[in-house]
Amino acid sequence: MVTETMPQSHFAQVEKRFAGLAAGVPDSQISAFGKLVKAVGGRLEVSGLKAGVGARCTITRQGTTPLTAEVIGFEGDRLLLACEEAATGVTPGAEVRVEASSDQVLVGDALLGRVLDGAGRPLDDRGLFLNDNYPLRGKPLNPMDRSPISEPLDTGVRAINSLLTVGRGQRIGLFAGSGVGKSTLLGMITRFSSADVVVVCLVGERGREVKEFIDDSLGEDGLKRAIVIATPADTSPLMRVSGCWRATAIAEYYRDLGLNVLLLMDSLTRFAQAQRELSLSAGEPPVSKGYTPSVFSLIPNMIERAGIVGSGSITSIYTVLVEGDDLQDPIADLARASLDGHIVLSRLMADAGIYPAIDLEKSVSRSMLQITTPEHQQHARVFRELLVTYEQNKDLISLGAYRNGSDEKIDAAIAFREPIMAFINQPLNSASNFTSDIEAIKEIVLSFGRGGDNTSNTRAELVHDAAQ
Ligand SMILES: Nc1ncnc2c1ncn2[C@@H]1O[C@H](COP(=O)(O)OP(=O)(O)OP(=O)(O)O)[C@@H](O)[C@H]1O
Ligand SMILES: [Mg+2]
Repeated sequence: MVTETMPQSHFAQVEKRFAGLAAGVPDSQISAFGKLVKAVGGRLEVSGLKAGVGARCTITRQGTTPLTAEVIGFEGDRLLLACEEAATGVTPGAEVRVEASSDQVLVGDALLGRVLDGAGRPLDDRGLFLNDNYPLRGKPLNPMDRSPISEPLDTGVRAINSLLTVGRGQRIGLFAGSGVGKSTLLGMITRFSSADVVVVCLVGERGREVKEFIDDSLGEDGLKRAIVIATPADTSPLMRVSGCWRATAIAEYYRDLGLNVLLLMDSLTRFAQAQRELSLSAGEPPVSKGYTPSVFSLIPNMIERAGIVGSGSITSIYTVLVEGDDLQDPIADLARASLDGHIVLSRLMADAGIYPAIDLEKSVSRSMLQITTPEHQQHARVFRELLVTYEQNKDLISLGAYRNGSDEKIDAAIAFREPIMAFINQPLNSASNFTSDIEAIKEIVLSFGRGGDNTSNTRAELVHDAAQ
């Protein structure tokens, strides 16, 4: 305010100093308001708005709450937005306003035991106060800061602990067709594993399954050390994709606190499908089975964020749906190449009522050699060999065409079929533990070595190292 006591020269000086400043300042990069000019499905086009890719915006609607959308690209001076929910009620020319950037995730200890949607809103009708921020797409990690996988993680599942040992910090794929038991097995691992915190991301599931997973698979005790991000099939592709990034960022938050985190994503295929929908609507061209190039770059990016850093770790398991049990699907292929192991579930075993229906012949844990003793490896090898020999001669045996005594290995595979299957078959509610599991396969393998006459060459050869 000009006062009479202030000398005129002072104002002259100020004026001179700031003269031309307004003209010199470039236009603001973000103009906060725009106008909706096109809406097709979940894709909106907005003019007059300047905001970066990833910015969150709201669009006024008639008779209901504003619609939230995210900038996914632009064409000339028009921004392309993807909606967080159905775009009902939006009108031509509706006002669009920039709210914030979507690249941060709210985190904090209050997350434990909570169920959130893809945008981080609680789904359990209780308030949630978080005080920390974490980057949604992660901080780039210096490869030199990563520690190698060196210790096993107890998954509480017998067949995995003993024959497909998973290491702390390992990334595993769980591959199967629909309805073979992927979610049920994830549920068992969630309840029984020895991790400090379990982050579960349910992507594109049926809504009913989310509730079932929380009530039955997790239960009250399981939920206490878990965080569930649920984006069922009826949510928008944007929510499904954001949910996966959010779950990964939350896992990183707990890992950076020095905890052992287990990140379970059901399913990676649904993430890929949601990302495909998003990027197709942003105009990206499809390259393989309709999947766009960004799908093939984002999946490895997300998977790479698991691992050991400092004293904390993220061990992750991603389910991969293989249509018609076809393991050559492009997403299955990419996942197999990016992950450190795969557990394949077999429809034949599930049909025969053997659960978890793990196909040991097709499954592999690439970290097993680094985290198990040579003795354990040898027992696992003999155990697998007995199982595979039976599977390879199954038709012959079941037709009655095999005559006992013709082949010693097949004789042993038949004799040990029952204890082997009894070991793999694990009831839904019975937890197991790592030490007793490796003892159990040792017991089976050594009794095979002792069985019948001890002069047998094949047995002696197979069990030679194991018996030491
Ligand atoms: N461990 C188990 N014990 C008994 N039954 C099981 C077990 N695992 C799976 N099942 C049976 O298989 C059905 C399908 O299991 P689940 O939902 O886990 O399969 P999924 O592979 O996740 O299916 P989708 O592809 O539809 O997601 C269950 O409803 C149940 O009947
Ligand atoms: Mg499932």
